[in-house]
Amino acid sequence: MGNEFVSCSFLLLLFVTLAPVVISNGVDVLRLPSMDHSSSHIGSAVSTDAIKDPTAKVFALIKDLVVGKRMAIAFPYKEPTSVKFYPKEMTQRIPFSSSAVPELLRFFSFSPDSKQALGMRQTLALCEQEPREGEIRGCVTSVESMVDFARHVLGSDAEVEILRSSLVSKTTPLIQNYTVLDFKEIATGNIVPCHNQPYPYPVYHCHYQLGIDNKVFKVLLRGDDGELVDSVFFCHMDTSKLTDDHVAFRLLGVKPGESEVCHFFTAYDLAAVPIPK
Ligand SMILES: *[C@@H]1O[C@H](CO)[C@@H](O)[C@H](O)[C@H]1NC(C)=O
Repeated sequence: MGNEFVSCSFLLLLFVTLAPVVISNGVDVLRLPSMDHSSSHIGSAVSTDAIKDPTAKVFALIKDLVVGKRMAIAFPYKEPTSVKFYPKEMTQRIPFSSSAVPELLRFFSFSPDSKQALGMRQTLALCEQEPREGEIRGCVTSVESMVDFARHVLGSDAEVEILRSSLVSKTTPLIQNYTVLDFKEIATGNIVPCHNQPYPYPVYHCHYQLGIDNKVFKVLLRGDDGELVDSVFFCHMDTSKLTDDHVAFRLLGVKPGESEVCHFFTAYDLAAVPIPK
């Protein structure tokens, strides 16, 4: 990337393709695709309407991973430019702080009361929140910053792979039946999930609760329309601290602490996993 970066070229520039991209989803945060832009935790109140929300069709159990099994899953279409990190050389040059909002609004030509400005302020506020006890959190704007973040959890010398579910085609229905063609456990234990936040370029909020076990699988799915999705299936192994009114428990018919709760990650979610040496 050149050094003479100018604002007008910013949006035109090519986005990076993450090399080892697969599929992914969340850690101690369990969210629905429709909650992508909120920061609610799994235990927080979920509207009873959520159970009727078709985009809630992302939950499953490990025992549902059976080759040949068919299930309805929601994979929303996303533009590659909205999910794939921009090169660090670009994002490093742009301030990322609530105190820089006036400058950022001018830079991106957003009016102060636009939807984009609101999203930007909310994302910056989320990114600047102090971690709670035992929590590691932060926002990342490039592959490199995500790998650095993951190393706080996985170890400073860890080799890190970033997983994401493949993007579906524009013509793929939001929800359809998918058949499991293949699946494989990728990692267990420390896995760092990061979720896309509203911002003019891809920004992901990552957070990790120390001592919480997760499991990640890659699941190859074929939709009824023929679409192949190389998906990330993320399991929260410890659900004992979650409230039983969470929509996932009702949809899966299990109780907190009784069973893991898993969900298919959208292309809007990333999981950083350690590569075994
Ligand atoms: C999935 O398949 C089942 C059984 O064939 C069917 O009842 C259901 O309507 C299908 N769901 C979708 C979203 O196509």
